[in-house]
Amino acid sequence: MVEIQKSEFKARRERLLAQMDENSVAIIAAASEVTRSRDTEYAFRQDSDFFYLTGFNEPDAVLVLIPGSDTPSTLFCRDKDPLAEVWHGRRIGFAAAKSDYLFEQTFALSELSAQLTTLVSGKQVLYYAQGVYAAFDGQIFSLLASLRNVPKQGNKAPATIKDVRPLIHEMRLFKSPSEIAVMRQACDISAKGHMRAMRFARPGATEYQLEAELHHHYAMQGARYPAYGTIVGSGDNANILHYTDNSDVLKNGDLVLIDSGCELQGYAADITRTFPVNGKFSDAQAALYNIVLQAQQVAFNEIKPGGYLSQANKLAMQVMTQGLLDLGILTGDFEQLMAQQACKEFYLHGLGHWLGLDVHDVGDYKQNDQERAFQPGMVLTIEPGLYISKDSAAPQQYQGIGIRIEDNVLVTAQGFENLTASVPKTISEIEALMQSNTHG
Ligand code: GLY
Ligand code: MN
Ligand code: MN
Repeated sequence: MVEIQKSEFKARRERLLAQMDENSVAIIAAASEVTRSRDTEYAFRQDSDFFYLTGFNEPDAVLVLIPGSDTPSTLFCRDKDPLAEVWHGRRIGFAAAKSDYLFEQTFALSELSAQLTTLVSGKQVLYYAQGVYAAFDGQIFSLLASLRNVPKQGNKAPATIKDVRPLIHEMRLFKSPSEIAVMRQACDISAKGHMRAMRFARPGATEYQLEAELHHHYAMQGARYPAYGTIVGSGDNANILHYTDNSDVLKNGDLVLIDSGCELQGYAADITRTFPVNGKFSDAQAALYNIVLQAQQVAFNEIKPGGYLSQANKLAMQVMTQGLLDLGILTGDFEQLMAQQACKEFYLHGLGHWLGLDVHDVGDYKQNDQERAFQPGMVLTIEPGLYISKDSAAPQQYQGIGIRIEDNVLVTAQGFENLTASVPKTISEIEALMQSNTHG
């Protein structure tokens, strides 16, 4: 399995340090565990920004960066504790964290309060992400208050607090070769999970069984958690954009929409496919499906350096508007319908989003109020969809059909690479795969 080297995490810290003001300090907090019920916790998920800069996967740690100092990166983390480790699992400890994760300085968390006073006092600027962790905000504000309140001891609070997130998020928007290698693997595992679910589907199976097929495959490949709540929506459930009940029985004649991706080493995949429960598209389903497929294909033409997401979306909307006109779901004049964005009644979301450590990844879509053009190293989803609910006024044969097709693409110097192309997508590819149904 590909893995991102600790030296790369260190190099990211150095890149951030190089962008910080003189005489400044950044404080970046790890996530904490969250109670699920009484004394059990939700599976721990590290804070994405903290992880991006450290690769360190324990709760409650704190990273402090000080440019121009002898110890530019300091990590505070849980101390070794034999009894706690017997109950709750191993801890790295601050001594091993220093050598294994390449920090210049590490301390036990119990030192945090005293050491932060020294590290922050006298700095002009504090870089900090306010409003993410309320309890940690409280600690930082008390620290600042104590620095302001006892100037007699020579303490001095930073005059300025700056948001550290824009700097980190701009870095995260451009994926390195090793990040791309991990994302390629996340996409590949997720793609195979989708194919497993397609092979399993048949009338009488349930939405949650398809979910189980996907999650089984992810976990068997070492990706223990999905990157977001898996959506398995059959029939009209596909028209609920974030449907996650996944509780219904699949019916003969319905389509099923699966939106699912695994998380691997923190990185998300985000794939959607829509296919017939019984392995064969009806004429109405096929007509709508091919509109969405064509919309995605024209959008792909815009995915290249210098291309724009809004232009890709416009191209996709032209195809969908014309397609809906041809089927009598929209009526009127094409140009007027485009101007009114009439297809939005059936296409409620955007065309895509950045993808990375977060499924809806960070990074500005605009710079100086102008949409930014695609550049090599960006990864995004392209996910047009049409949703005709059973309550819509569309001709009856189209009611209760929801379709989305979502792939994950990397912008390259030449154009783009579709990282999820291996999941069947044309009607003939899907029907062929479903003939190898695992129910025999
Ligand atoms: N899975 C959420 C999305 O497609 O954006
Ligand atoms: Mn999705
Ligand atoms: Mn998506």
